[in-house]
Amino acid sequence: MPIITAIIFSTPLTTINICGVMRSPLQIVVVVVAGAFVLSLLMLYYTKKDEHQENFLYDGAADEKQVNDSFLSFEKRIRELYDGIQTFVLFIGYGLSGHSLVAAILDAHPKIVIAHEFDVLRKWNYYKNDTWNGKSKLFFDLHSNSRAHAMFGKRAQFRSVSQTGYAYHVAGQWQGTFQDNIKVTGDKHGDVSSSFLMKHGFQVLDEIQKVIKVPLKFIHVIRNPFDNIATKVLKNLDARDNARDQSFKVNNSEVLDHYIASHFKRVESVQRLHQSGSYGILDVYSSEIISYPRENLRKLCSFLEVNCDKEYIDTVSAILYQTSSKTRNSVVWTSEQKARVEELIQKYPFLRPFTFYSN
Ligand SMILES: *[C@@H]1O[C@H](CO)[C@@H](O)[C@H](O)[C@H]1NC(C)=O
Ligand SMILES: *[C@@H]1O[C@H](CO)[C@@H](O)[C@H](O)[C@H]1NC(C)=O
Ligand SMILES: *[C@@H]1O[C@H](CO)[C@@H](O)[C@H](O)[C@H]1NC(C)=O
Repeated sequence: MPIITAIIFSTPLTTINICGVMRSPLQIVVVVVAGAFVLSLLMLYYTKKDEHQENFLYDGAADEKQVNDSFLSFEKRIRELYDGIQTFVLFIGYGLSGHSLVAAILDAHPKIVIAHEFDVLRKWNYYKNDTWNGKSKLFFDLHSNSRAHAMFGKRAQFRSVSQTGYAYHVAGQWQGTFQDNIKVTGDKHGDVSSSFLMKHGFQVLDEIQKVIKVPLKFIHVIRNPFDNIATKVLKNLDARDNARDQSFKVNNSEVLDHYIASHFKRVESVQRLHQSGSYGILDVYSSEIISYPRENLRKLCSFLEVNCDKEYIDTVSAILYQTSSKTRNSVVWTSEQKARVEELIQKYPFLRPFTFYSN
């Protein structure tokens, strides 16, 4: 450095005026050379760095192996997750009974993943011939469905009560996901399950049982049949909004007859499933779930053989306040129709508590 400084400042042969400062040509040459040196050092540094990055990203085999390994272990972990599932649960029953609510609160349990209307029975052909992957595929698809509903669908946080009529979001719990492992998975589409079984028989259940190899169980959510039937009538006649007015009544005997018959066909198919004794069925009453949430949650958890901790029960009980309306009063029933329904009710043990005047 002293030499360079000496050259620059002590040998002014001729001077050149740069921006009003007099500099000798030697001084200028030295500054240019020094600048070029620094620049080339910088270029060298950055070229090296590029090479390094290139190696890091494109180190052929080593990197491919890394990707393969991480994919394999992810795939393996997912398979192990599904292999650890101990119970497969389906809902059975009638539309507009409270199945969606029960499914949503079970999906919020840390060990339970329940899809919303995936339709296992109708889609079963897609899984049944795949003896190797059928089970993993089905569980993966149910899991994806549950996740999608938690993020964007029925159970999503942004879905307000006014949009769906009911709130299915459980804040701070495990909808769409799980903690450590999954013990129970399944699907809720009670109305479709019972009408499918009514038409096609129970063979599909034996097939499912054979492929999934863990106990298949059913949750049967029950509401007063007078309300089930009346709600179907109102829905069919597009009159559910009108029915909010207490004095409104639908007077359509034919449509009512139709839904009385179709309701009891579903009841009959549930009763046959009960009688077959092949699968565990838990009867739960939607009005009791609202009135006694804790007792009913414990019942559900013990049926599914999972532990229900206090935090889960407290959080979930808080959304169980929505009483279903007594839609039976929005429909005109002849006394013959009332008597017919009450007589049919008596044929089925799980319906016996109900009358036109009961809850
Ligand atoms: C990664 O997986 C592919 C496809 O299975 C295979 O062809 C390839 O050889 C694997 N690479 C390494 C480095 O294991
Ligand atoms: C499944 O296998 C049966 C015969 O065992 C066949 O009739 C049916 O078409 C197959 N279904 C699908 C979806 O491949
Ligand atoms: C319902 O309609 C029938 C005729 O279709 C009529 O005889 C009956 O009085 C009506 N009932 C009520 C409560 O409006």
